[in-house]
Amino acid sequence: MISLVVGTRPEIIKMGPIVLELERRQMDFDIIHTAQHYDRELSTVFFNDLGLPDPDRTLDVGSGSQAEQTGEALVKLERTFGETEPDVVLVEGDTNSVLAGALAAAKMGIDVGHVEAGLRSHDLRMPEEHNRKLTDHLSSFLFAPTTTAEENLKKENVWGRIWVTGNTVIDACMTFMEVAAEKSDILDKIGFERFCLATAHRKENVDDRDVLSEFVETFLESPVPVIYPIHPRTVKMLKEFALYDRLSRSENVQLLPPVGYLDFLLLMRGCEFILTDSGGIQEEATSPNIRKKVFVLRTSTERPEAVEAGYCKVVGTESKRALAAINAYTEKGEHPTSPSPYGDGTASARIVDALGNS
Ligand code: UD1
Ligand code: UDP
Repeated sequence: MISLVVGTRPEIIKMGPIVLELERRQMDFDIIHTAQHYDRELSTVFFNDLGLPDPDRTLDVGSGSQAEQTGEALVKLERTFGETEPDVVLVEGDTNSVLAGALAAAKMGIDVGHVEAGLRSHDLRMPEEHNRKLTDHLSSFLFAPTTTAEENLKKENVWGRIWVTGNTVIDACMTFMEVAAEKSDILDKIGFERFCLATAHRKENVDDRDVLSEFVETFLESPVPVIYPIHPRTVKMLKEFALYDRLSRSENVQLLPPVGYLDFLLLMRGCEFILTDSGGIQEEATSPNIRKKVFVLRTSTERPEAVEAGYCKVVGTESKRALAAINAYTEKGEHPTSPSPYGDGTASARIVDALGNS
């Protein structure tokens, strides 16, 4: 039996196509949700949008310090695996839930499969960098999205077996865009004729007053009005730093709560460009049915393939530099068109093939 551990919004979205593939092949699996993300708009909405079965178990890990959250997930997952006795534990990405799932399984002698293995930002301020490195070294099965990720793993002499599969988020974009066009009415709620799309939630950015002030400045001064679905972590920090009102009063910015996947797909397809510090959005922007320029509001990226393919540009966190890059782009009006470096939408089938043959 394969146990799929998820905890946050991107893990549900990127594990989704694998769940659907396992269902299609009638393979034995269960879904364990740590509930690191617990609000409906960061969790249940994605199960519904992707038509996934409800989790078999939900562990109520919730929020906390890095150690509290990771530690609680570790203890609860060990207890769970002790009862459910999976043959393989599959984790996706780089969150605290991922590290906890991999560590609990490895310590119990259960094989770990890591989806999206081998990404490296080389920025140790990021909890995600600790999580992805440690998880890769605990895994028996490493599903690298690209050959660049595969090279990273080889350089570090991981002991598990590596497959290059593409990224399942492209599968999700390809599968759900048409469903989104049919079901979502998000574009009727947008108050601008043309817009760019913004998100921000990385700890090292939004928990820092200076960086978050720079983001607010970038959004207020953007040459194209901004649609901004805000992550709850960022709402909390904007209020704590007394920045929220400036943003909410601006005529250049429309704030939204975090939106579901079908809504977000249409926003990505309909926008002129994207401003974000997200990881997954850098990949989705390369999907043939999205193809958008992304200004990455960070000092590094673990997705260099999207930069090389002409989709992403890492512009740092300062408003002046970000705006210069955005203005240069809007004046030129050239849009990226290269094939996605993250595969052709068949990553989940490749991963399930590999699991079936292992
Ligand atoms: C986590 C992941 C990050 C991933 C992101 C996806 C880690 C270290 N970070 O960051 O890699 O990119 O999820 O969105 O695992 N909160 C709510 N409701 C919720 C969940 C969180 O209000 O349902 C608020 C709480 O105030 C919480 C804060 O958001 O303290 C941060 O949540 P947390 O899960 O710790 O980290 P994320 O920033 O969401
Ligand atoms: N996303 C969404 N609604 C939103 C913002 C993002 O559905 O309001 C999706 C987005 O399409 C992508 C994923 O959430 O698939 C990215 O999650 P996030 O940026 O929170 O995490 P990261 O990818 O940085 O780990």
